[in-house]
Amino acid sequence: MECRSAVTLTKQRRNGHHERIDFLTSKEKASSRRKTGIIIGVLVAFLILAAVAAFLIWLFVFKDADSGATLSKKLSPSVQVFSGHMKLAGEPYAQELEDTNSKEFTNLARKLQTILDGNYKKDPLLAEYYTKSVVTAFSEGVIAYFWSQFDIPVEELEIVPEFSEERVLEALENGLKEQRLVSLKIIEVTASLTDPRMARNPGAEECFYHLEAEETVKKFSSPGYPRGYPPKSRCQWQIRASEDKAISVTFPFFHIEDDCSDDFVSIYDSLSPDDSQAITEKCGQRPPSNHLEVVSSGNIMLINLITDTDVQRPGFEAEYRAIPMSQVKTCGGVLSEKAGVFTSPLHPSFYPPAVDCKWTIKVPAGNKVRVKFTMFRMKEPGVDIRVCHKDYVEVMDTKYCGEMSSLALTSVGNILEVRFHSDESFTDKGFNAEYSAFDPANPCPNQFACASGICISKDLKCDGWNDCGDMSDEVKCNCEKDQFSCDNGLCKPKLWVCDRVNDCGDGSDEKACSCEDNEWRCGNGQCLPQDVVCDSKMDCVDGSDEASCKSSPGVCSDFSFKCRNSECVNKVNAECDHVKDCSDNSDEDRCNCGTRPYKLNRIVGGQNAELGEWPWQVSLHFLTNGHVCGASIISNRWILSAAHCFVTSDPAYHVASNWQTYSGMQDQYKQDGVQRRPLKRIISHPDYNQMTFDYDIALLELTEPLQFNNTVQPICLPSSSHVFPAGMACWVTGWGALREGGQKSQLLQKASVKIINDTVCNVVTEGQVTSRMLCSGFLAGGVDACQGDSGGPLVCFEESGKWFQAGIVSWGEGCARRNKPGVYSRVTKLREWIKKETEI
Ligand code: ARG
Repeated sequence: MECRSAVTLTKQRRNGHHERIDFLTSKEKASSRRKTGIIIGVLVAFLILAAVAAFLIWLFVFKDADSGATLSKKLSPSVQVFSGHMKLAGEPYAQELEDTNSKEFTNLARKLQTILDGNYKKDPLLAEYYTKSVVTAFSEGVIAYFWSQFDIPVEELEIVPEFSEERVLEALENGLKEQRLVSLKIIEVTASLTDPRMARNPGAEECFYHLEAEETVKKFSSPGYPRGYPPKSRCQWQIRASEDKAISVTFPFFHIEDDCSDDFVSIYDSLSPDDSQAITEKCGQRPPSNHLEVVSSGNIMLINLITDTDVQRPGFEAEYRAIPMSQVKTCGGVLSEKAGVFTSPLHPSFYPPAVDCKWTIKVPAGNKVRVKFTMFRMKEPGVDIRVCHKDYVEVMDTKYCGEMSSLALTSVGNILEVRFHSDESFTDKGFNAEYSAFDPANPCPNQFACASGICISKDLKCDGWNDCGDMSDEVKCNCEKDQFSCDNGLCKPKLWVCDRVNDCGDGSDEKACSCEDNEWRCGNGQCLPQDVVCDSKMDCVDGSDEASCKSSPGVCSDFSFKCRNSECVNKVNAECDHVKDCSDNSDEDRCNCGTRPYKLNRIVGGQNAELGEWPWQVSLHFLTNGHVCGASIISNRWILSAAHCFVTSDPAYHVASNWQTYSGMQDQYKQDGVQRRPLKRIISHPDYNQMTFDYDIALLELTEPLQFNNTVQPICLPSSSHVFPAGMACWVTGWGALREGGQKSQLLQKASVKIINDTVCNVVTEGQVTSRMLCSGFLAGGVDACQGDSGGPLVCFEESGKWFQAGIVSWGEGCARRNKPGVYSRVTKLREWIKKETEI
């Protein structure tokens, strides 16, 4: 909007300019040639001067005022706002104080504002820039909420850093010491630097709400919800409950702009936007499986919505209610069962601020206790997780905070104490913990005991994977014949030695691999003469000699990215990396793919995928058989799958109308938000070989386009020159069997698998892989795709921030067997065919 008005302004000025020239030319006719020349000269000079003056006026007056361009931003005066609360002693609390229009409110607010004015006026630095203080609310106690504003002019901007919280607090506290007005005594004061956009006047009418929380659930939503909130919104919701109650607010729907510096929602355990009592600040989009739910520690809460972008987002819907204070404050206790579960207060909602709990786990004498935190998230800005000086869980004198994916602890005796502490600011989802008693003489009957005390399957010991979480299952291993013994005690497949991937973790598998100085080492360790590098010929089996060549743009090799205008870019994975490499920008212009819109909780207990985590995943149903194969979305009309799902001995499988596709699905039994589309056409690769599974790829055209949203998105297709190096961790997803010969899964599963070096792949599959295939998984076994996953995608996350599809689930010997990794169709090799058939 603002930019548009600036443009109009410029245009009008230009038009004015033109009118003047017309005027001049008409005068010209009346005078003699010479005179005319002089007059014209003078007038032209005058005109130039006028134009320069007009431009300067426009630049400094109009442009500044109207466009808010960078120039004006740089020079704008600084507004410093501090907000906090004051606790008043000896002041009776009157219900009327909650009504900002009441006499009581106005009187007390005015008195306090005068005291604040007086306090700041005494401070030599602050006095000069102090503008005003506003008391915005009162609550029982009596507590007054306020903000104070300081305005620093452009010429004195260098003084801004002096406006610290300490400085402001000092001025206020000095004032307290000298209080003379006995009738009004302030006994406590806080002040935090606050975003000026949150400073509101108590009587403000626009987007300012006073809500009363009760036991029954009530609702509110952001302005314009669900169509979209307007830019420049400054909204505030003050929520109160009766004195013995706390407030719980849940956001069943939350979708704000992704960048928190533009738009955000901030929630306070106070009626002031005081950072020292912030519960949380959020932006972005949250899936229903990870909705935001917060609780106050007292009977008040403040919610702010600040929006600045023009980008329309739906906003949020919130439900609020009063809950008994006991529900918030009672936690901990004695746990004397042999096993059980306990959680942070109100988990999985955000725990309330200012709570302390203690659990004493007591098991029979002679036994010990093990505690496993299956979810742990206590993150707070500015906290060093080695110190945990704010919120923490304390076990055996050690404090834990931050975010942890695996935390397991064992007691020394038969009693273990777990303490939980939340301070006044910032809260999080907290934790979920399982505990059990065990006999120290036999801690893990028929299983392997990790140093942490948890038990894992014996097969997981020395398999090259850190299953215990503390590596104790991978040290002191007697490596097998086909394994390499790492310096740190780990065993890794010998085939991984010198493959340029640090599999041991200490680099020992890659140490003794150097080639001579004048040689180049390929990914598989092979040494070749240096001059093979960037000679536009693939000399190493893995192409590593051509992969990162910045040679002259005209040179094209199999490893160059080919721009649409036939130029070549010799850079690894040039597409969609936010860098314009092709002069026609064709490497960056079709990059609306490979992103997941939802902000997901990163801790997931098992391998169940969350809704929206793999938005390109499709489930293919055949007639009444339910889920049969997987597939991936590559555009709103096309999906990608495996030919072997359609080319079978039964021709019915090649009939498009016998299939249904489901996108945006997570649970096979839930259809809400799922987009069902019948198939119009199945194109299996003409060279698909039923014996060898070579060219195992099929393209499926939908009868009607998909609607992209939070749970339905296309995956990026890699260009044929894209490199997915051996060792890269990628993800395979599907509803296939959970183990060999097992049942299909109801919930979408995800597994992290590594790309396996082609030579290794060829060895372990006894030469059955072609160049249209790649191996991914673990030679140790244990993780793999399985029956029912076929056709589904193997996707890898690139540093550019996008997901690319490297493979299509194709075949494997059994599932997750040792030395039998999954085999996938290699998308890069089939990329040109996809393009030919679909123009994607
Ligand atoms: N062919 C199987 C299917 O139709 C998929 C096999 C994948 N196997 C494996 N071990 N990765 O579902």
